[in-house]
Parts: sequence; C-alpha cells; structure tokens
Amino acid sequence: MNLNLENIKRGISLMKTVNFNTDCNKGPIMLEVATTSACTHKCYFCAEHSNLIPVEHTSFKMPDEMLWKLLSDIKKLKIEEVRLAGNGEPTADPRLTPIVDFLHQAGVKVLIVTNGTLVERLPDSTFSKLHKITISINSFNNVTHQVIHDYKGATQLPKIMKNLDRLAKIPGVKKKIQINYVMTTDNYAEFSEVLDYVEKNDIFVAIRPVYVGYKEIASKKLEFGHINKVLSEIEERFTQGNLSNNLLKTLEYARQSFTSDASTFQERNELLPCFAGLYGGYIESNGDYRISTYCDGKPMGNIKHSGFIGLWKDNQLQSKLYSGVIMNETRRPLFKNCNNCLEGENYSRQFYSVFSKIPLQMQLIRNKHKEKVSKVKSFLS
Ligand SMILES: C[S@@+](CC[C@H](N)C(=O)[O-])C[C@H]1O[C@@H](n2cnc3c(N)ncnc32)[C@H](O)[C@@H]1O
Repeated sequence: MNLNLENIKRGISLMKTVNFNTDCNKGPIMLEVATTSACTHKCYFCAEHSNLIPVEHTSFKMPDEMLWKLLSDIKKLKIEEVRLAGNGEPTADPRLTPIVDFLHQAGVKVLIVTNGTLVERLPDSTFSKLHKITISINSFNNVTHQVIHDYKGATQLPKIMKNLDRLAKIPGVKKKIQINYVMTTDNYAEFSEVLDYVEKNDIFVAIRPVYVGYKEIASKKLEFGHINKVLSEIEERFTQGNLSNNLLKTLEYARQSFTSDASTFQERNELLPCFAGLYGGYIESNGDYRISTYCDGKPMGNIKHSGFIGLWKDNQLQSKLYSGVIMNETRRPLFKNCNNCLEGENYSRQFYSVFSKIPLQMQLIRNKHKEKVSKVKSFLS
C-alpha cells in the first residue's frame, strides 16, 4: 500500500469508525453518490446504460428533499469524502454547483467522476473546490471513442479534450485531474499512444481492463494475448528510465490492474475480509444503498425511510457490515458474488494488510460483531 499522508489519515479514520465509534456517531469515511442516473453516453461496458444489456434504462434524479437530507447527514456523520459518480453523469445534474458548495463548506472532500461532455456548463470555482476530478475518456481515437461510448458525430471527443484543456488551466486544478481509461478489445492497441499522451501532457491515466459483470459484454474482454502485449510494453517503458512521476504512476497502476485475478480470467473463489461497508457506501439516485458498487442482489436499504443516519445506525445493518469484515473466518458471504468481488482485492486488502498487524484490532472487530449480532437477536426475540 502507498503509505502517503492521505492514506495514513484514512487508516486512522477507519480505525475510529470500526473500533472506537460509540453509538455509530461517526459514519463511513467515504460515500459514492449518484444524484442522477441520467447520462450523455451509453458506454457498452456500463451496467446501467449499455445497449448490449437488455434492461430498461429509465433516468432517475434524486428528489430535492432526499438529496439535501443526505448532504446534511453526511455532514453530521463527519463523512470525509464524497464521490459524485455512480450510474449516471454528475454534470448532467443542474444542482451540481450547490451540492459541491455545500459539501466544500462542510469541510468534505468532493471527488467527481465525469465523462467530460458537459463541463462547459460549470464555473471554474466549482472545479477549484473539488478534491479530485476523474474524466473517463477510454479512447483518444475519434472513431473508437464513438464505438465505446455509443454515440454518433465527430465533434464530441474534440469537445471533451477542449473541456479537459480548460480544466487543466484553472489554477491548482491540473494536479487534481485523473483520466480513467477502460481497455477492451476495441482500444487495447492504443496502449502505447496513451502512454505518449501521459508523457506529453503530464496527466495520470488510470488504465484498467474492462470488468465483465455481464455475459453480454464478454466479447469485449481482453484475451491473454492482449494482456501479455500490454504487460510487455509496460516493462519495456520501465527500462527506458527518466520517467515523469505521472508516467511512473500510470505504468505502476496498469501493471497492477493487468496482473490482478480479474484481468487474467482466474476466478478467486475465496472470501476475503470486506471493509467496504465501513469505509464506504454507495447511494443510487433512487435512494437505494449498497456497501459497494460491486454488490449484487437486492440493495441493503433505502435512505427514503429514515435517511442515511437512520440506516447507518440500524443494528441489523451494522451487524451485516461487521459480518462482511470477518467473512473469510465465518465463510458466510454477504452476497452471491463476494467470492470473486473486486472490492476485497482493492482497498479492503490494503486496509486489512495493515489492520491485521495492529495488536488487538481484529479481536476488537470480532467482539463488535458478536455484540451487534446479539443486539439484533434480542430485538427480534
Ligand atoms: C459508471 S461511470 C459514471 C460516471 C460518469 N458518467 C463517467 O462516465 O465517468 C464511472 C466509472 O466507472 C467505469 N466503469 C463502468 N463500467 C465499467 C466496467 N465494466 N469496467 C471497468 N470500468 C467501468 C467508467 O469507465 C467510469 O470511469
């Protein structure tokens, strides 16, 4: 794990949430929120909008009352980070500027994941208040960009690149920009161009293989040959030396994501400790709550009934969150896909690797789990 100051602060905060949290007055350390499910693209790998996946796509905007109550709950629970993303395009929500203003004023770090198509609607001051701006581009080639994002017209990608240039010129903003680049069978051959882009523009690009959560997108999944080609190019670039920080970061990120189990077709089939519900949470525009965007099955609750605070303090939910942390010991998954979920391999693995070495922390967690389960049992009996 990268032991920088930000991650150390996150680790300490998580430890407080997990083991020193009287009456659950402190929330998770970050929440992902989709204030709208409307999007200007229909990326073929997107579970919500892809035309390849035969589900009805109806856009939903979080009602005003629910949204402002959620923001107030975030402040009260001292949640440190909010990522505006989820299954829609955050810049398509006309309330984005007041949302960012409120959270920024409350001392919350606001991160955004956007496709960059509507950036021109927003003032510079909104971007200055953001902690991190991730732009999903997925191809620098005009034709491939249209194929992956499923639209027609050659002006869209130049417009996104113009928006990106504008953001990079706002004082203090360039260093907060990251580009997300999902690799599929359509764009993997662009890998070396993407590295050239990083070198020329000094912007970090998070390149990762497409995650195939649906059989309909299986044909877009990279094969061993593609992956090996990408990995050998990574090693070759490393040998060139004199690499900028962003190029190094891009290569290290790609090496890690292209050697993970998910990209190499190996099913893990193993339950890992999942801290996702204690460090995070995902709230959809209709108020549905899941501990992570990867959780399959039904949502674990909805904030329309008792708000996020009510949900978070609910004994039954808390007992499930602690069950998730020790499911590698109990062998009881929270959801069907826990055995192969990527969440367990990402932040959870990093937190666990440190947490499990700090004396008493895992024992405290096991005790908390027992305490939470017995509270639910006594409530039900
Ligand atoms: C679902 S989008 C929503 C936010 C915004 N509309 C955007 O396009 O960035 C959030 C991020 O999830 C990534 N994503 C969605 N489906 C994916 C998949 N199957 N594999 C890998 N990344 C995926 C997208 O590339 C994007 O960076």
